[in-house]
Amino acid sequence: MTTSVFPKDFLWGGATAANQFEGAWNVDGKGPSCSDMLSGGTHTTPRRITRTNEQGVHYPSHEAIDFYHRYKEDIKLFAEMGFKTFRLSINWSRIFPTGMEQEPNEAGLQFYDDVFDELKKYNIEPLVTISHYELPFGLTQEYNGWAGREVIEHFTRYAETLFTRYQNKVKYWLTFNEINCGTAEFGAYLALGILHKDTKDFLHQVDEPAVRFQALHHQFVASARAVQIGHKINPDFKIGCMIAYMTTYPYTCNPEDILLAQEYNNIRNNYCGDIQVRGEYPYYAKRFLKEHNIELDIRDGDLEDIKAGTVDYYTFSYYMSNCVSTDPKLENTSGNINGGVKNPYLQASDWGWQIDPKGLRYSLNEIYGRYGIPMMVVENGLGAFDTVEADGSINDSYRIDYLKEHIEQMGEAIKDGVELWGYTPWGCIDLVSASTGEMEKRYGFIYVDKDNQGKGTLDRKKKASFFWYKDVIESNGENL
Ligand code: BG6
Repeated sequence: MTTSVFPKDFLWGGATAANQFEGAWNVDGKGPSCSDMLSGGTHTTPRRITRTNEQGVHYPSHEAIDFYHRYKEDIKLFAEMGFKTFRLSINWSRIFPTGMEQEPNEAGLQFYDDVFDELKKYNIEPLVTISHYELPFGLTQEYNGWAGREVIEHFTRYAETLFTRYQNKVKYWLTFNEINCGTAEFGAYLALGILHKDTKDFLHQVDEPAVRFQALHHQFVASARAVQIGHKINPDFKIGCMIAYMTTYPYTCNPEDILLAQEYNNIRNNYCGDIQVRGEYPYYAKRFLKEHNIELDIRDGDLEDIKAGTVDYYTFSYYMSNCVSTDPKLENTSGNINGGVKNPYLQASDWGWQIDPKGLRYSLNEIYGRYGIPMMVVENGLGAFDTVEADGSINDSYRIDYLKEHIEQMGEAIKDGVELWGYTPWGCIDLVSASTGEMEKRYGFIYVDKDNQGKGTLDRKKKASFFWYKDVIESNGENL
């Protein structure tokens, strides 16, 4: 008899995104996406955003790990680990090359049919992100990305095409990956497709908060309309939101720090979720927008759509936690989307992301307490350097430790009463890092032979964590 705290139909799996693993960036009619214009970078050298594809520049998304041509081999490996679900995104510009066509590209649609059929062979449930950092670059050129209201129509046509085509193959959908990235400067280009004429690289974008928050408004309307369209096409669809949860603690019990953390949590973590789950702008939005001189252009019907298109479940990424403080002298560290003040109680990854498994339990409780709807952790993991030993083995015990501790805390949260549907650790197969463009910031259970310069055989190898995770899934989270 099982004693696992995880429900028996818990969706164990892994997560990826098209722009970071498919490659084949200009094959079978695909157009360029925003990611395809991002050069490689490192932890210390920011990725450049180019307006055209420049000769001699390494663009990591162009080949990535070539899932496009190797999906059968990769899915077989996922099946061997026992995946119940696999999170992938659809490359919008594979379906609508510039984003503005009226008719979809059949070859692009066929590719995902083939992928879903392959998953079905192994009873792996697809979990599909409709938009994950791959806005067609045509929409950036034409409308400055989501800053243009027209993009709502282009998105809903795209979403409707997917819902109709895959209505019997996909049940779980997410509209936008980490939609709340748009609340941070850093998210302007990748999450919203906004490109200021003076912006040169990813870390130093010329920021116009009013444009960013308007673009986010367009995404809220687009997401809500897509939810309504999806439910009409198939009432059994489960359509969720996806938030980059940036767990933020006050550095001290000084009330100034407490208030700062509260404001930070409201704007960065709650703003988008409140709108997508509760169907309305939260009370604190008014003051925040006013004080930042942001006047939203909200048209007739927008708020009604937002109300009618609330999501069925809440998903989020969780990698780390941060502190905030009113003391400017404290040491900062980096993190997913946003860094913060260094927490003396935590260790950090090689990229400075602070490792905080208990923060996951805390966050699950915070979110569930706020919304009370089912949840999934759709990204979590440790980006680390891996070494291939002389005998070909990869002993990533540090990754196992990280994941084990986070799974334990998910178990605790389930005991606390949180309704958790699934867990898909990020980059279940090594792929391109979104923030730095590196290949050598690895998250996978499966190693891919490729380096930061784009050299390598692309051969796949099982890491020690592959066998460990297989056992975790087989025992439904009992053997950690
Ligand atoms: C999330 C994104 O922010 O974090 C992924 O949804 C990303 O696209 C992941 O890859 C890990 O971040 P990074 O920068 O290490 O790739």
